[in-house]
Amino acid sequence: MSFTVAIDGPAASGKGTISRAVADHFGLGHLDTGLLYRAVGARMLAGEVPEQAAQRLRPEDLGDPDALRGPEVAQAASRVAAIPEVRAALVDFQRAFARRAGGAVLDGRDIGTVICPEAEAKLFVTASAEVRARRRHRELLERGLEASYEVVLADVRERDARDAGRSTAPMVAAPDAVLIDTSALSIEEAVAAAVAAVEARR
Ligand code: DC
Repeated sequence: MSFTVAIDGPAASGKGTISRAVADHFGLGHLDTGLLYRAVGARMLAGEVPEQAAQRLRPEDLGDPDALRGPEVAQAASRVAAIPEVRAALVDFQRAFARRAGGAVLDGRDIGTVICPEAEAKLFVTASAEVRARRRHRELLERGLEASYEVVLADVRERDARDAGRSTAPMVAAPDAVLIDTSALSIEEAVAAAVAAVEARR
């Protein structure tokens, strides 16, 4: 039986951590769909045409997520994600994953609205831009990367505006999504809220 959990939200909202925890808790597969756009973004930075890179993308290209984590690749991902042909080329892979036997959690920006509008459970995970920038800033410092909080905040705001403002599949909460604002929540509290929301739909 397939059971799909759609988790959307902006960068550094906690949706990745929550998605992995929900997948572990319920024994579901997990796909971080941002990695697809990051892989295409990285190829654009390497000189490829984004539409062609998206069409040629293979699951093994996502094998080294750490190589796709940096801020430059994130901005490139957000830019290629606004190209309708890029998005179209990535739909089938995501939908096939969503229907896998045993169920799946997909996290991204348009999972509950475009990729899996029939998902059994939908969450929209958010937090204020300042809180998200603080988290991302700390993460970068922990990885030994130099960054100023102001630059990270500007980066978060720029990506939010592009992801929410594009005409194809913009980032928006599905009308039937449960909203989780993690601004004032610990990781444990946010995960507990997400698990409870999914449990209610099983
Ligand atoms: O979740 P992330 O930060 O890794 O995503 C990187 C970019 O990819 C994000 O700025 C917008 C894009 N993206 C998207 O448009 N749709 C998705 N389902 C996932 C990511």
